[in-house]
Amino acid sequence: MSIPVIDFSKLNGEERAKALAQIANGCEEWGFFQLVNHGISEELLQRVKKVCSDCYTMEREEGFKNSTPVKLLNELVEKKSDDKLENLDWEDVFLLSDDNEWPSKTPGFKETMAEYRAELKKLGEKVMEAMDENLGLPIGYIKKAFNGEEADAFFGTKVSHYPPCPHPERINGLRAHTDAGGVILLFQDDEVSGLQILKDGQWIDVQPLSNAIVINTGDQIEVLSNGRYRSVWHRVLATPDGNRRSIASFYNPSMKATIAPASELVEKVNQEVDQTYPKFVFGDYMSVYAEQKFLPKEPRFQAVVRAM
Ligand code: OGA
Ligand code: NI
Repeated sequence: MSIPVIDFSKLNGEERAKALAQIANGCEEWGFFQLVNHGISEELLQRVKKVCSDCYTMEREEGFKNSTPVKLLNELVEKKSDDKLENLDWEDVFLLSDDNEWPSKTPGFKETMAEYRAELKKLGEKVMEAMDENLGLPIGYIKKAFNGEEADAFFGTKVSHYPPCPHPERINGLRAHTDAGGVILLFQDDEVSGLQILKDGQWIDVQPLSNAIVINTGDQIEVLSNGRYRSVWHRVLATPDGNRRSIASFYNPSMKATIAPASELVEKVNQEVDQTYPKFVFGDYMSVYAEQKFLPKEPRFQAVVRAM
């Protein structure tokens, strides 16, 4: 079993209805799907791979060698302990956004990643529009909801590496979680696997596929869609060989945006409005998420109401 692979170029042709149906199925049944022919050029993707790998070697690797997970895993081995490190991830990661500082020593990194982010943001908007249409919402609904009244939606890019791990059974690459935000566009390694999703109680691989962009939906799409598009649990396994590169871009609401189920998708039964999901300010949700990222998601929706 593997997650759906969808030809995104079909959205602009005679097979548009079929492509939309595939996207709807990906959102409803899987929460994860891969896009091919998405319009991001292979040449740009090759450059992204190169500058991110160069950046790891030039600016990150040394730091990872001295990081907490590496130290604690060494200690376990020295103590001959059988314990697993449950509260850490075997991951090197940094964030790129419009207003933070970017790595500056790697030739071409900033230029390439700025170009990549601009392209991915446009792709994210096209994907959100397909979701609007599939959900029967006005085109642009999700983007507008994420923008809020006075602030812009947040577009962030996490550059991650999962270096080879000498004891992959003792630590996760990234612990299981659902994503907090909106739509996530992931450019993952085309050789080293490790990403898995929980599907019908089983962990299945997100198969590496050259030049594909993996799409998944976060908790805010679950709320907006009133549970039609559920955020799905996923994790990254640590592996003994290969340094897995993974670049995840997040199209998220502004911290100030108010998120609630779209009224079009809320049913009224016997005059009572169904209230599975609350209405909240996204920044408040993120405060809860920061504490509870690796715990079951449902209590987060309750906690954010109490926090208001
Ligand atoms: C994440 C995530 C997966 C990966 O950053 O939330 O799930 O492959 N990343 O890095
Ligand atoms: Ni995630």
